[in-house]
Parts: sequence; structure tokens; C-alpha cells
Amino acid sequence: MLTLVHGSDLHFGKPFRPEAARAFKRAVDGLSPDLLVLSGDFTQRAKVREYQEAREYLQGFRGLPLVVTPGNHDVPLYRVWERLLAPLRNYREYISEQLDTVTRVSGATVVALNSTAPHRAIVNGRIRDRQLRFAARAFMGSPEGDARVVVAHHHLAPAPDYESDQVMPGFRRCLDAFTEMKVDVILGGHLHRGYIGSSLDVYPGEDRGHGIVIAHSGTTSSRRGRARERLKNTFNLVRIGVEHMEITHHMYFEDMDGFVPFSSHVFPRREMRFLRTGPLLGEPGPGRGDKP
Ligand SMILES: [Fe+2]
Ligand SMILES: [Fe+2]
Repeated sequence: MLTLVHGSDLHFGKPFRPEAARAFKRAVDGLSPDLLVLSGDFTQRAKVREYQEAREYLQGFRGLPLVVTPGNHDVPLYRVWERLLAPLRNYREYISEQLDTVTRVSGATVVALNSTAPHRAIVNGRIRDRQLRFAARAFMGSPEGDARVVVAHHHLAPAPDYESDQVMPGFRRCLDAFTEMKVDVILGGHLHRGYIGSSLDVYPGEDRGHGIVIAHSGTTSSRRGRARERLKNTFNLVRIGVEHMEITHHMYFEDMDGFVPFSSHVFPRREMRFLRTGPLLGEPGPGRGDKP
């Protein structure tokens, strides 16, 4: 069973909530995942000071494989010349020199794609064709049965509510390509509220038998939570087994000063057509065990 923790939108700067960040660190230590994924918006305004604080925080996770990707807030919005000429200069200096990355751990290949588009689509982002080819090449070399994970800041599924947040332009093209690559799960952020579902909710495409699981994390450590997660902080715990994948949405409760499991979602792995165990993993499914 591969375990990864997926948080997002830390937003060091004005909206940052240190108590949630401290609780997240404790939660990750307690869960001891194989991998930590942080899907962008490390800062609020892409300032050096914010990046320094973010880097210091990330250093606390030393020893744990870490996958990062930039978000739109990691690009300076108001420092226009910097945005035009070197939009991710500070991100590359303080968080990661590489923008599109491949991380291989035992049981998974994780491809992180930089979905920021500082010049023409700062809010909604883009994934370009060359990045889809980069992902396809990375997955081509991944062992049979390994989980195939894509990370991108911007959302390939709309917000799960009626507030307006347009999905990334070109999302159908991306979902078609990721389906072709047999991607298991896409992890993102940006919307500041969680969503755990299937690409089939959004776009059936050519293969209705095999949706890709899509999981957005809310903001893990800022006051910028939106809609049902207004002023809340969340992350997702992803467990990938041979036959199924379980994603548990965790939420921070102030009175407990900690993150606790909030809801759990189970999906069959790509090769499986249905779940062979009941809704609570480990329990017999209908008609296959003792009466309840
Ligand atoms: Fe954000
Ligand atoms: Fe964002």
C-alpha cells in the first residue's frame, strides 16, 4: 500500500495560519507517508520573505520525498516586469529549480506539471502539449501496476458548488491524454476547497469504464478557504493498493488543534471494474460474507 499526503495552498504571507501549518506537520509525522505532495501557492504574493518562510517550513519535512508544483500565487501578480521577464524566479530559487518533474518511489510514478501561465491565464492556468508529451514519456518507463499520479495546481474539475470558478481551459484535451497514459489520480489545489471524485463527473471522454480519480485539496494552512471550506483547512491522505484507492479528506479543528479524518472515498484501481470489498475496506462486500 502506497501512502501519500497531499496538501495545497499554504499561502505563506498575510493569510498564513501558523497553527494549521504546525498541525499539518504533526499530522504528516504521525501518518509517515511514503511521499508528501504540495500542489502550489506556497506564497501569497511571491515575495522573497514569504518564500524564505515557506522554504524553512519545507525543510522540516527533510527525509520525506517531496513533490511540489507552482501555483498562480507563486508568480508576482503586481510586479508586472518581473511577471513578464522572470515570473518563477523566486520559486525556482527557494522551492524547486525544476518546474516539471518526475518522482519515482516504490509503487508509484508521480509527474508534476507546472500549470501556471503568468502571461496569459494567470488565474485559470494551462497545461501545454509539450508537458503532456513529457508526462507520457515519464509514464512509459513506469513499471506495470505502479500508480500513475499527476500533480498540477490548477483544477481539471470544476468547484463542487455554485460559486463561479472556471475549470482550466483545455481540460478535455488533458483528460483525454491522461486517460491514454492510464493515469490513476490527478492531484490539484487552487480552489481552496476539497473535491474528491472522478474525471467522469466532468467529462466522460472515450472511456467511460475508466475514469481518473481527481482529488483537490483545500488550503492546508491559510485563511483563504472558500465555500464549504471557508476559514477551514484541509488536506488529503491518499492510499493506493493493488485493487483500490482510498482518499481521506482531513480537516483542521481548532478546538482539537489538529487535523482529523472528515470523509473517506474509495475507488477501484484502473484495472478493476468495481470494488471487491465493501464500502469500509477490509469488510466483506454485499453477499460475500457474514450478515451485518
Ligand atoms: Fe491558492
Ligand atoms: Fe491558486
